[in-house]
Amino acid sequence: MRPTRARIHLDALRHNYRHARALGGGKALAVVKADAYGHGAVACARTLDGEADGFGVACMEEALELREAGIRAPIVLLEGFFDAGELPLIERHALWPVVASPWQVKALERHPLQHPLQVWLKLDSGMHRLGLAPGEYLDAWNRVRALPWIGGMVAMTHFSRADELGHPGTSDQLATFDATLARLPPGTPASVANSAALMAWPRTRRDWVRPGLMLYGAHTLDAPCAEAEALRAVMALESKVIAVRELAAGEPIGYGGAFVTTRPTRVGVVAAGYADGYPQYATSGTPVVIDGRAGELIGRVSMDMLTVDLTDHPGAGLGSDIELWGPRLPVADVAAHSGNSPYRLLAGLKRVPRVECGN
Ligand SMILES: Cc1ncc(COP(=O)(O)O)c(C=O)c1O
Repeated sequence: MRPTRARIHLDALRHNYRHARALGGGKALAVVKADAYGHGAVACARTLDGEADGFGVACMEEALELREAGIRAPIVLLEGFFDAGELPLIERHALWPVVASPWQVKALERHPLQHPLQVWLKLDSGMHRLGLAPGEYLDAWNRVRALPWIGGMVAMTHFSRADELGHPGTSDQLATFDATLARLPPGTPASVANSAALMAWPRTRRDWVRPGLMLYGAHTLDAPCAEAEALRAVMALESKVIAVRELAAGEPIGYGGAFVTTRPTRVGVVAAGYADGYPQYATSGTPVVIDGRAGELIGRVSMDMLTVDLTDHPGAGLGSDIELWGPRLPVADVAAHSGNSPYRLLAGLKRVPRVECGN
């Protein structure tokens, strides 16, 4: 069998969730959308079930997968509903939709429900993606609140640049949010922080925090932050050396001959490529771990294979263990060598069997 695996350390996930929740000081919604950022939504939700205050998913399909797996905790639909026809399913499965557009407010008004619905009403505080504009928020709040079938409401917003520690955008967005919150009834529950805000912007820790990436042990913070040091990588993308070539100096390797050896070189061929989700445009010099020691990618990444430099790893050869990212190699470091983000690499994992451990 092809020796390529994504090992999922569920104990690390639990550790990261506890860290996030403790930091937030209130409730923490574990964001498990996009198949838990490539880690397996059902396995991750089961690991945190009974402990997580709720789960965040993008859409109904993702929520139903969790409900069918027996997850009973609250589930927030972070993209809300896409048409009013979803409301009966939302009610049946006790899902909590984000409401972010005037048409959704109207849809709630037109569709009486039998059971109390929890709504997270989203303000666009400056990201300009989803959310009601500050000028329309209060009216929307009052209209939704007035509906007899609304059980509770949370005021929320989302930051666009919380990972940029020196950028004023997060404070500006928070000020916009707080100005709106001040016009809502006292004690209205609020939720603003994603992972970066939760770790680096303490003032954003409100009733609910919404950690995603940090649960999986990664971050995109652009400056050192003590709170990120405590994270543990959940996924290890592993493979093995399946062939070894001894090349003279001046020999090209792989497609396009993009890398040419500058010395006699031992090349290890590894059974992982871009069809597995490894970044196609990772440059020569991208870090890898070879039998536990730091090494480098050389040559262009192919669909199913990539090549590493074994010259300075005399003990390594056929069957050697390769870690492409994981506990010994932050996925963010790999991402940085291909103009990618850890979000993209983790959520972009394909074809690779997942092996869960540490539960
Ligand atoms: C509304 C919302 N909240 C929270 C998150 C989690 O963000 P992060 O993975 O940066 O923690 C996301 C993810 O995009 C989101 O869309």
